[in-house]
This record gives sequence, structure tokens and C-alpha cells, in this order.
Amino acid sequence: MPDGSSTLLQRQPQTGIAEEALTGLRQEHKVLPAKLFYDAEGCRLFEQITGLPEYYPTRTERALLEHRGAAIAAVLRPLAEGGTELVEYGACTEAKAAILLRALAAGGCDPAVYVPIDVAESALEAIVARLRESHPRLAVRPVVADFMSALTLPIPESRGRLRLGFFPGSTIGNLEPASAQAFLRHAAATLGPGARFLVGVDLRKDPAILVPAYDDAEGVTAAFNRNILARLNREAGADFDLPGFVHRAVWNDAESRIEMHLVSRRAQLVRLGGETIRFADGETIHTENSYKHTVDGFRALAAAAGWRPSEVWTDAAGLFSLHLLAAGESP
Ligand code: AVJ
Repeated sequence: MPDGSSTLLQRQPQTGIAEEALTGLRQEHKVLPAKLFYDAEGCRLFEQITGLPEYYPTRTERALLEHRGAAIAAVLRPLAEGGTELVEYGACTEAKAAILLRALAAGGCDPAVYVPIDVAESALEAIVARLRESHPRLAVRPVVADFMSALTLPIPESRGRLRLGFFPGSTIGNLEPASAQAFLRHAAATLGPGARFLVGVDLRKDPAILVPAYDDAEGVTAAFNRNILARLNREAGADFDLPGFVHRAVWNDAESRIEMHLVSRRAQLVRLGGETIRFADGETIHTENSYKHTVDGFRALAAAAGWRPSEVWTDAAGLFSLHLLAAGESP
């Protein structure tokens, strides 16, 4: 069993952010990839979003993990004779993993290893530092990577130890259904044959609840959205005029998704990576999709990606769902 000391961050190759941004901004309908939100400042703003009264997903999922943690551990226990390795995708913080780790420990699944995977290196460093204090016996093996790319986990699979993937927060909702399916396939290959995967999925609901969750009264989501431009200014030498872009959140019912856009207030030119990008008055940059699934819809998606859907836990109001998926052995 590895000891509690943490290794250096394992870094996997990534494209530069200027190049990634330009790829999206050269298109007829301008887009920026949502993962560019998550530098240290973006993680901090997202943390602030999670505490907003309008933003129900985080507190709902947290309550589910707290109230259903024992049931989750009971299902996993027979698979975890040799302990559990928890692999978290897209971990800005370890807050939800900490709840799950506690439940797994209490339920006899002995969580010995935690592998947080994220593009935000500074967030991972902070996670490692906090866990060293709070969980001195937990082996933490962070990986700096885009979870959509092929991944090599830092610790080889070991017989008798359960590998449990964890993808909370409905981050999977950022992916278009075809990409979500591709991601789930990659994850199956990364996690290996005996793995289980616990995925948090936000559910379809009344737009009167959804829209304010992405356009809060305090303007924190607007700041989070604009931070993508601020980041391009900081890190890629761009010259976006931040007040020149307005935050907009819209519900696209046909696609079952919330869309976030940044709308140009006027015709303007922006410099980025040696190129000039032209904006018309009212032109938008589509910065994020947040798909809202139904329980059955998500189970079908997971099954199409080669996972066997098993337990599902939802809150009484039907806002959010936690899905347990089993690898392999499906027809
Ligand atoms: C972290 C991707 C799940 O889509 O709800 C929050 C990000 N964007 N407010 C979401 C987000 C605007 C969030 N995810």
C-alpha cells in the first residue's frame, strides 16, 4: 500500500490556451471551450457560484452524497476487499470527494488512494496541501490533464482493489451527448475492467429554476463567464475589453441545455496570438453548454458507451441524480 506522501504532479501534454481559443474564435459561430474557465481565478469564482442561492446543483449533490453515502458504500463493499482507489475527474476542489471518502471509510471500502485529475494545476496543488493535513494516511496522486484526452493513471490496477471513478458536479453536462459518450468510453478504458463509476448528473427541469442558476442576481456567474476573457488577456496576451462583453444565459429546450454566451456590446476588434478577431455589434461567443438529462436518458447514454447502469440516487425534488455505472460485462 502506498504511504501518505504525495508525488510530484503528473503532467500530461496540453495544447496552449491561445491556440485553443483561436480555434474557436475563427469559427463562424464563435465558441470558447468551457475548460478554459478553470484557472485559479475561475475555480475561485466557481466555488463562489456553488454557494449562491440560485445554484442548486452543488448543495443538492452534496446532500445526496451525505445521505446516500452509506448506501453507496454498501453496494461497493463486496468489490473493495483490497480497498478503494478513488479517481476524480475535473476536481477543482476535493470537497465532494471528502464526503465520499468518509462514507467509503465508514462503509468498509478502505479508500487508500485518491487520484484527482484536473487542468488547473494550482487547484491540484491546493488539494494536495489540504489533504496532507486532513487525510495524512491517504495517498494522493494528482494528474494535470484534460480529462477528454487519453490518460494514464499513476498507479497500476491491483487485484482486489476497487477502482472507483468519480465525476461529480454534472461536469459531464458540459459535453455534447456524442462527446459525453466518447468521454465515458475513454473513462472505461482508463479505469479498467472491474471499475465502477459514480457520475453526478443534473436533471431536466423548469427553465424558471434553470435560468437563474446560470444568471444569478449577484452577477457571480457573469464574472465567471467573463473570466475566460480576462484569462486570455492575462495568459495569452489578448486585449479583450471586458466591459465590452455581456453575460447571457439561455435555455435551449430542443437541445436540453443551458447555454452561456458573451455578447459583444458593439463592433470591436480584439488581438490574440498575432491575429485580429472581428466582432459585430451583438455577436456572441458561446462559452458553455450545460446539458440537462433525464434519468433514463443518461442511463441510455452510459449503456451506449459500454457501461452497465446500476443504482441511481436522486433527491426528493428530482433536481439532481447520482448514477453508479459498472464497467465491462455488458452485452
Ligand atoms: C461545473 C460544469 C457543472 O454547468 O453547472 C456553473 C459550470 N457554469 N455556472 C455547470 C457552471 C455556470 C457548472 N459545471
